[in-house]
Amino acid sequence: MVKTKTVYVCQTCGAQSLRWVGKCANCQSWNSYVEENVVSNPAAQRAGDRPQGQPVLLQNVLAESGQRWTTGIVEFDRVTGGGIVPGSVTLVGGDPGIGKSTLMLQMACLLAQEGRKILYVSGEESVQQTKMRADRILGKEGDLYIVNQVDLYAIKENVKQLEPAVVIIDSIQVLYHPEINSSPGSVSQVRECASVLTHLAKSRGMALFLIGHVTKEGMLAGPRVLEHLVDTVLYFEGERYTSYRILRTTKNRFGSTNEMGVFEMTARGLAEVANPSEIFLMERPKSASGSVVVPILEGTRPFLVETQGLVSRSTFGIIRQKAQGFDANRLALLVAVLEKRLELNLQDKDIFLNVVGGVKVMDPAADLGVVLAVSSAFLDKTVPYDTVVLGEVGLSSEVRSISQIGVRLNEAAKLGFKRAIVPKNNMNVLKELGRQNLEIIPVATVREALDWLKDQ
Ligand code: TYD
Ligand code: MG
Repeated sequence: MVKTKTVYVCQTCGAQSLRWVGKCANCQSWNSYVEENVVSNPAAQRAGDRPQGQPVLLQNVLAESGQRWTTGIVEFDRVTGGGIVPGSVTLVGGDPGIGKSTLMLQMACLLAQEGRKILYVSGEESVQQTKMRADRILGKEGDLYIVNQVDLYAIKENVKQLEPAVVIIDSIQVLYHPEINSSPGSVSQVRECASVLTHLAKSRGMALFLIGHVTKEGMLAGPRVLEHLVDTVLYFEGERYTSYRILRTTKNRFGSTNEMGVFEMTARGLAEVANPSEIFLMERPKSASGSVVVPILEGTRPFLVETQGLVSRSTFGIIRQKAQGFDANRLALLVAVLEKRLELNLQDKDIFLNVVGGVKVMDPAADLGVVLAVSSAFLDKTVPYDTVVLGEVGLSSEVRSISQIGVRLNEAAKLGFKRAIVPKNNMNVLKELGRQNLEIIPVATVREALDWLKDQ
């Protein structure tokens, strides 16, 4: 029997308090405490589940390299770092309706076709609904078992009987631990259910996927608790009104966290997008000021994205600077460089920056592109349609070298670009790489880049 006690739990970060508080001291969120019954000694309660192990010499441990199950969905395999690791636990987060169930079911069908036994626990949809969805996606299902269940103990029994290689829980927020009084979706339910399942997965070497909905505030219920518990956190995101979806990891114990996968939601499920640059650039205006194409790098993969700047006179003396898909602080800094070092008169201007296609750019190589997008909008000078811009910008308005320039330029050349503005300090690397199929314009400072822009 599980012993429980009644406390107040923050629904955002999982912090506990013996009395109700208005503001969480841990995560600073307001009004997030709810009365819950939590397990009073979770460690002791799970001790029995833990696999017994003797200490072994590290050098005697055989690394289980190559032990990964690839799904055949190239985008998915790359994001997970080369396939699913047996015994691993993955949290798949995202807004409701974004396509988490579809992605997981598609993955399940493909794995089942390769002869692996899969258990899909659908707590949200009936077995018939899931069947209908599977029919839309793929014809053959193989060894794929579906159960409509929300009771944790029943799921545990199912796993013990069926002994599947992969278990998918759709979703963790509807599961119910019968010995905890809190309602499904509360932090203690989510945490306890997830940790019981995690121990089950680890002790049996089965891969576990937990689907989790993101709340309106952009948080998974009990996100920090779950993120600590699992090996990999995948986020599935995208604008609901476009059909493109981006899968990225924020944590991965078995691979890099920079990779991203691009999918398109079609009538027959999710389709992989092998060349996202083409899509991100599809609707680019032919000759508009403020539009600049930047080859960014996400993980190992180059992407071309369009950044758009807009500068307008601000009204009522309130200056607005807004960035979508780009760090707003970084934008403020780059605008300050333009004002202070290049005497562009931006003080009384509203400045907007948008990265097209729902991509979030973190790559510093996009700096010079952003600077040129803003300047181009301000000066009403167009950056030629067939030009890409690369470079990190420093506070003294110097253009700094960037990583992996060859890969980025190759991608640009592949898509028919003719010219690239690059940091001068990258020229030695470029010389070593040999001839590029692009006209290269090296710049050492933002001023040189602006002078080039004014000549256009
Ligand atoms: P779903 O996977 O149910 O989202 P989640 O599990 O993240 O809540 O996806 C729901 C949306 O996807 C729904 O609006 C319908 C759409 N969809 C398609 O467009 N094509 C398809 O083949 C499928 C299965 C769903
Ligand atoms: Mg779903």
